Amino acid sequence: MDVLSALLLLVHLIPVSTAKNEVSSKSRKRIMPEPVTEPPGVDPVYEALLYCNTPSVAERSMEGHAPHHFKLVSVHVFIRHGDRYPLYVIPKTKRPEIDCTLVANRKPYHPKLEAFVSHMSKGSGASFESPLHSLPLYPSHQLCEMGELTQTGVVQHLQNGQLLRDIYLKKHKLLPSDWSMDQLYLETTGKSRTLQSGLALLYGFLPDFDWKKIYFRHQPSALFCSGNCYCPVRNHYLEKEQRRQYLLRLKNNQLERTYGDMARIVDVPTKQLRAANPIDSMLCHFCHNVSFPCTRNGCIGMEHFKVIKTHQIEDERERQEKKLYLGYALLGAHPILNQTIGRMQRAAEGRRGELFALYSAHDVTLSPVLSALGLTEARFPRFAARLIFELWQDREKPSEHSVRILYNGVDVTFHTSFCQDHHKRSLKPMCPLENLVRFVKKDMFVALGGGGTNYHDACHRAGL
Ligand SMILES: *[C@@H]1O[C@H](CO)[C@@H](O)[C@H](O)[C@H]1NC(C)=O
Ligand SMILES: *[C@@H]1O[C@H](CO)[C@@H](O)[C@H](O)[C@H]1NC(C)=O
Repeated sequence: MDVLSALLLLVHLIPVSTAKNEVSSKSRKRIMPEPVTEPPGVDPVYEALLYCNTPSVAERSMEGHAPHHFKLVSVHVFIRHGDRYPLYVIPKTKRPEIDCTLVANRKPYHPKLEAFVSHMSKGSGASFESPLHSLPLYPSHQLCEMGELTQTGVVQHLQNGQLLRDIYLKKHKLLPSDWSMDQLYLETTGKSRTLQSGLALLYGFLPDFDWKKIYFRHQPSALFCSGNCYCPVRNHYLEKEQRRQYLLRLKNNQLERTYGDMARIVDVPTKQLRAANPIDSMLCHFCHNVSFPCTRNGCIGMEHFKVIKTHQIEDERERQEKKLYLGYALLGAHPILNQTIGRMQRAAEGRRGELFALYSAHDVTLSPVLSALGLTEARFPRFAARLIFELWQDREKPSEHSVRILYNGVDVTFHTSFCQDHHKRSLKPMCPLENLVRFVKKDMFVALGGGGTNYHDACHRAGL
């Protein structure tokens, strides 16, 4: 057995998802270490395994946990698409042979897989905003196309959907059995993998849903900022952040040597190899237990993978420290957070509105939102990552509304910058909705510095 399969075997033996989601202080430390106390060496292979998020045992999660006198009012779910085929090829090598058809006799499997395919084949074009109706509703290529969702990706989101169904529908009765179209809000970017991920989650959540009651909106921007995307200061932060990334890379001699060695193996200039973002493809090999590619000059191996992955981890650590990304994240996440609090406020006031909102998105959507919320310990969003905002009403004080924030099943409410110390002052295991509203309407801009007090001013500040 080679190193890779030995490691993958390990994933299937230890209940990874339990370790990931348990709230005991021990395992929380492992998945979300406090930045200060984190030991200097983080294991790149362990991190990569978390990233793959291979479905194994049933997940434990903290979604929906509240005292009896609280009523669940609405739920807002942000997901990253599930496991996908790489977006880039490693030059001059054979691309990994991964089958993107959905079949029962392949692992990972979900009991609803065949029913999902059958329900998708009945799907109706009327359910999707243009240009979504031209996308396939489930993956189907025998050799995956670039970026295509895999069976693993579908299963991950069927599982997410079922988990949310058990908690929100069966336990908390979030939707009535005769739920109507306007009680759901569904939005996705225009990629097949995000639409299909959203549909898989929705199918796990509402099996055999009525197609006539479904409407998926199309979001052209990965930041979900449509209508408010123009923000020069955000772009300025992004440029500075990219410069920081570049300088950090230059400092890493081992990384440069590794790219050089890999470039020699595949026989292209180092620059071309680096531009092809090989880690994306290597992660696919790793997550699918397919050995890394070889040429007549040798093989790409685990030693290359570890160096690049270690650098990624280092890069994230520095990113948190230097705060340039935070500036980008605060401005990038504002429109979607603003939309979300708008939805929460409407629901809190008892006006008709969406009870369940699903945004099917990308790592570049979730990352800024996590950073903006102050969840600095959250790692790069894994496949099928889920970030959830729950809105609750205190039945004993009906005018009071509270929120809980969960990331991959872990309650991170009191890790956010707007509710960090709240639980030390209050007995309520939740954060007042006003805290989140104040943060989005005002404190986000205070955190940016520079005197802006609203999105428009903060985006157009001169002389930065
Ligand atoms: C990985 O693949 C090898 C064969 O290439 C196989 O023997 C091994 O069992 C696989 N490991 C896992 C965890 O699927
Ligand atoms: C914030 O949301 C309100 C509606 O709730 C909307 O009128 C306003 O334009 C939004 N602002 C931004 C910058 O997204």
